[in-house]
Amino acid sequence: MDVETQISAVRLLGTARDPVVSLLDQRLLPSRTVWLATSDGEVVAQAITDMVVRGAPAIGITAAYGLVVAMAGVHWPPEATPSDVEGERFEAWRRRFARTRPTAVNLFWALDRMAACYSRTEAGPETKLFELRAEAIAIHDEDRAYCAAMAGHGAALLPEAGGILTHCNTGALATGGVGTALGVFRGALMAGKRLHLYADETRPFLQGARLTAWECQQDHLPATLICDNAAASLMREGKIAAAIVGSDRIARNGDVCNKIGTYNVAVLCKHHGIPFYVVAPTSTIDLGCPDGGAIPIEQRSPREVTHVGGWAPEDLLASLAVAPDSVAALNPAFDVTPAELVTAIVTEVGVAQPPYAEGLAAMVAAAEARRQR
Ligand code: MRU
Repeated sequence: MDVETQISAVRLLGTARDPVVSLLDQRLLPSRTVWLATSDGEVVAQAITDMVVRGAPAIGITAAYGLVVAMAGVHWPPEATPSDVEGERFEAWRRRFARTRPTAVNLFWALDRMAACYSRTEAGPETKLFELRAEAIAIHDEDRAYCAAMAGHGAALLPEAGGILTHCNTGALATGGVGTALGVFRGALMAGKRLHLYADETRPFLQGARLTAWECQQDHLPATLICDNAAASLMREGKIAAAIVGSDRIARNGDVCNKIGTYNVAVLCKHHGIPFYVVAPTSTIDLGCPDGGAIPIEQRSPREVTHVGGWAPEDLLASLAVAPDSVAALNPAFDVTPAELVTAIVTEVGVAQPPYAEGLAAMVAAAEARRQR
């Protein structure tokens, strides 16, 4: 589907020999638009952990580009054992990027693709560097195409008119293209549907308030920001016709891991008889995870709960305490929505309906076959 945006979160600049990763610092949005440009693999890895860049597909793309700059430089990752063997240097960097964030499987999917690319030929370091660059760009380009395909498949599921609830940020800032769930919303508008987005603010990191609201403003999409806890009463008032969310990892049985609070939305949808759609590329499906219980849930700093703002070090002074000093706080960054609450899962290959086990496996196989062509 022909859906477009000028917004991008991740870019590979520079030359083949001197590549530069450029990241839109999402910790500073919406108040400041600052790009972090670096040729240092360690800076890229830390940027993923620190949420300069976030969103499952965007993290995978960034890690792939991070490996490109890391291998173009002369540095070893800080904790590596020095060796003259180039393959060990690649493996040390791959492990470094694998430690950046635990939940989004797109990260590991992209790193596996880069590792397969690295070991595919016996070529010398310079040729391998060019091949890694081409593979990372392919991962980015493919994700852009997957977003467009999902926008088409998912748009058909949404009603002709009404309110659509979403959670977190699933748009161009989170992917290589127009987005997963937000891409579907864009696609439905392009198809002429009269829809209005209700964006959960998404406590504690406020991806909905800071990022989805900003993205919708930039691209003139009709949207209203709500507190997370306003969703139930909006549903009761008949203002929500469907909910669409993205995912960081989908287990083999269709259990969906996504931003904390997604499960709340799914339960509310069930109670109100509202369809709950999940939109994610096949790179988000982890057939190695039998169910949601096997998905590692990232635990982030309690400070994100006790304070608002100040997520970038240079902004620490701008953080506001919203809880008493040194109160205990828990900050699980993701939750799991059981498959039974998911109405359908949209991927670039098509739409999977419950029961999911067979459909998801077939979609992964189809996507893999397309890539081999
Ligand atoms: O912690 P984040 O901001 O990286 O979490 C992002 C999400 O949970 C998104 O909903 C998810 O990555 C799917 S959208 C591409």
